[in-house]
Amino acid sequence: MKRIFGVFGDPISHSVSPTMHNAVFSALGMDCIYHAFNVKSEQLEKAILGANAMGFGGLNLTVPLKERALKLDCIKPDPLAGSIGAINTVVFEKAGEITGYNTDGLGAKKALLDAAVEIKGSKIVVVGAGGASRAIIFQLAADGADITVINRTEEKAIELARDISGAALQGKIKGSGLLGLKDLLKEADVLINTTTLGMHPNTENSIATAEELHPELTVFDIVYNPLETKLLKEAKSIGAKTVSGSLVLVYQGAEAFRLWTGIEPPVEIMKKAVLEALEA
Ligand code: ATR
Repeated sequence: MKRIFGVFGDPISHSVSPTMHNAVFSALGMDCIYHAFNVKSEQLEKAILGANAMGFGGLNLTVPLKERALKLDCIKPDPLAGSIGAINTVVFEKAGEITGYNTDGLGAKKALLDAAVEIKGSKIVVVGAGGASRAIIFQLAADGADITVINRTEEKAIELARDISGAALQGKIKGSGLLGLKDLLKEADVLINTTTLGMHPNTENSIATAEELHPELTVFDIVYNPLETKLLKEAKSIGAKTVSGSLVLVYQGAEAFRLWTGIEPPVEIMKKAVLEALEA
């Protein structure tokens, strides 16, 4: 009998996770299927308990359920998911307990490692202070990066920097408003955009222009619709290294697969499936 995996979200019809995970199951000859389920926030606990009762292999959670999942009594969050404040991967343990993980930050880290970026000691500027930023910064601070988080609403950047400092991770962190971006970029090794600027349909927007970037910078945009954002185009035009947001999708999924199955994820198959789905 096929083992069922799935992603819960609302809306969910545009998710590429089913294509990505089903490509893996098929390539590895696993008798499993991954399906997208539309689950409303108020039904989340029942849906997770139901999936556990029905012997599901594992779940991903996406917008708007990640933060809500942390408040449910039925899930025990691992410490990193607890600090981030969001769960994107649910593991059904053999003994019946349900554990919540967050693989978004690790996904972003692996995308940077793919581009041969040294994280420890790197000067990283992260724009945006929402949920995605939080997951990424917790991971990169744990890996010893020197991070400045800047945000349109400055207080949110300062609050996020305070939370990270409070977690006593090895990296350094500061928070400030968007105004300082130009000067910060002159000294930075990596720029990460976690805001929605440049996302379809506003594809002409970008957090920085080519003149504000420099060729030694690695520019990472977590927006993957379009695949090549205005920011990445500007970066390429001056010879800077670029990292596509589609890789976060791949690596967060790869780490979820590892947690569910204990099997080394075939990332090249996942990358191909995601690119084909996003290009279509
Ligand atoms: P997610 O959970 O996906 O990270 P979010 O919590 O909605 O999404 O966060 C979106 C981020 O993009 C925020 O940091 C937001 O800035 P504010 O805190 O000031 O709202 C940022 N953002 C969205 N639109 C923006 C814009 N036009 N210019 C600058 N920043 C923007």
